[in-house]
Formats: sequence, C-alpha cells, structure tokens
Amino acid sequence: MQIIDKTAQLAQAVAQAKERHQTIGLVPTMGALHEGHLSLISRARQENDLVVVSVFVNPIQFNNQEDLAKYPRTVEADCRLLEQAGADIAFVPTVEEMYPEPVATVYHFGPIEEVMEGPRRPGHFSGVAVVVRRLFDLAQPDRAYFGEKDYQQIAIVRNLLEQIKYPIELVACPIVRADDGLALSSRNARLSANARAMAPAIYQTLCQAVEMSETDDVDDVRQYVLDALESYHLVNPQPDDLKFEPEYFEIVDDTTLQPVNTWQGEHGRVGCIAVWLNGVRLIDMVRFR
Ligand code: PAF
Repeated sequence: MQIIDKTAQLAQAVAQAKERHQTIGLVPTMGALHEGHLSLISRARQENDLVVVSVFVNPIQFNNQEDLAKYPRTVEADCRLLEQAGADIAFVPTVEEMYPEPVATVYHFGPIEEVMEGPRRPGHFSGVAVVVRRLFDLAQPDRAYFGEKDYQQIAIVRNLLEQIKYPIELVACPIVRADDGLALSSRNARLSANARAMAPAIYQTLCQAVEMSETDDVDDVRQYVLDALESYHLVNPQPDDLKFEPEYFEIVDDTTLQPVNTWQGEHGRVGCIAVWLNGVRLIDMVRFR
C-alpha cells in the first residue's frame, strides 16, 4: 500500500491507473477507522481495481470547534488497518495540502439540507461537499463508498453528483453495529465505559419503534422514541448522572428526507436520530418501510 500525502502524487497514481484502464474505488474517511469503514473498503476492494482511501479530518465541515479539536486522530493505526484491509492507496493530506487557498465555494442543497443535521450544523454539508468534490477531482473514482449511518450525507452527496454531473456511482453501505447494537462510529471512542454500556439503548429504542410502526401512527412512534430516551435514566438509574439528550428524531421520506406523517407513500420511511450522551453526539438510523 502506498501512503500519499501530496495531491500531485495522488493525481499521478490515478493517471497511471487510468492509463491501465483500471477502475478506481474511493472511500472518503476522517480516520479513527473501525469495522464500519473496513466494510466500505472491503466492498470497494471487491468492485474495483484500485482502492483509494482518504484519511482527512476536514475542518470546514465542523461547525463546532471543540468537536474538531476532540475528533480522534489515529493516522498510524489507520494506515496499518488500511494495509490489512487491502487498500492500495492511503491518501493522508494535511489541511494546507487540501486547501492551499481559502475555501470560497458554498454549496446549497435545498430542502434536503433544511432538516435534521442541516439547521443544527450550519455550513456542515457545504463543507462535506467541498471536500468530497475535491476528493472526486483528485481520485477520479468510478465508485465512491459511504456509510448509511450518515443517511442525510448520502442524500447530499447524491445531490452533489447531480449538480456537478460527475459519472460516479455512489455506493451506500449498511450500518455496521457492535454486538450490542450500537452503530460503530469514531466518536464512540470518546464515551466513558459507563456511557458506552448505556449507548446501545439508542438502537434498542429504534428497534422498538420499528415494531410499534406495525400498529401505531408516525407521530406516536416519533414521540415514543424521544420520551423513551429522555426518561431512560429515570427508569434505569445510571452512574455519573448519565442521561440521553436527544437533539432530534425524525421519521422522513427516504428520498426527499422530508418529515412524514403517514407510513404509506411513494418512497420508504427511515428514522434518523441524533442524541447527546456523555458530551458525545451519536447518530443512528433505522428503516421502517
Ligand atoms: O463521513 C465522513 O466521515 C465525512 O463526512 C467525509 C465523507 C469523509 C467527508 O469528510
């Protein structure tokens, strides 16, 4: 595996692959790799000749500077994992290398960014789009791999691809969960042991919601999830004053991402959640229909 930190070097490796008519799979990451990322890499490995994995904590997608400062950075361990996972190129640029000039581009995505993460993280999706487009320009992939945990991000990247008209196949990969159900995330590493033990209740509550959706209205299911998490520490007393603080739980159309109030419709229904626990913001999603 080649470890590349310069954009010119990546462009050269990509040009060589193109000359050989090799297909390229890109897995964009911010590092602190876990099994979720490895599942994307394994899928990319199966479907492409050359697998490029970027490891770059993109400062312009963080609207909260504390979150950026605390984001886990484990580049050496990441490169070891990438080598084992069969990546061909680990692209690990510095911020200066990625953004030699101040970033002036702002992307807009209309209604799909006006819900859930959008209003709560101003500028986040534009920052994601800027870095993803830059990675697309550099790696020129045939396919790009994203995890469904960041469900809204996938819709944003799909919309970006429509805006810029790049012929890249977006491959959305299912969430990978720990044995106890917690969605794998780089942020899980920041949970205390007690918080980590409590965190699986998020997915358990979402599974309850899926069961309830057989008999109950959308609004009742939505309210159930919020109430169950908000009162969790009262029903199950926790050490260290741990409690869930849900930021949102929305049941939305799986394509337009607009909140729905019926289970029936042209498209499927997904539930997306963001919850604070122990100073860490966790997100998850489930499919209802
Ligand atoms: O999902 C992530 O890890 C990031 O948002 C991404 C797509 C790598 C862009 O920085």
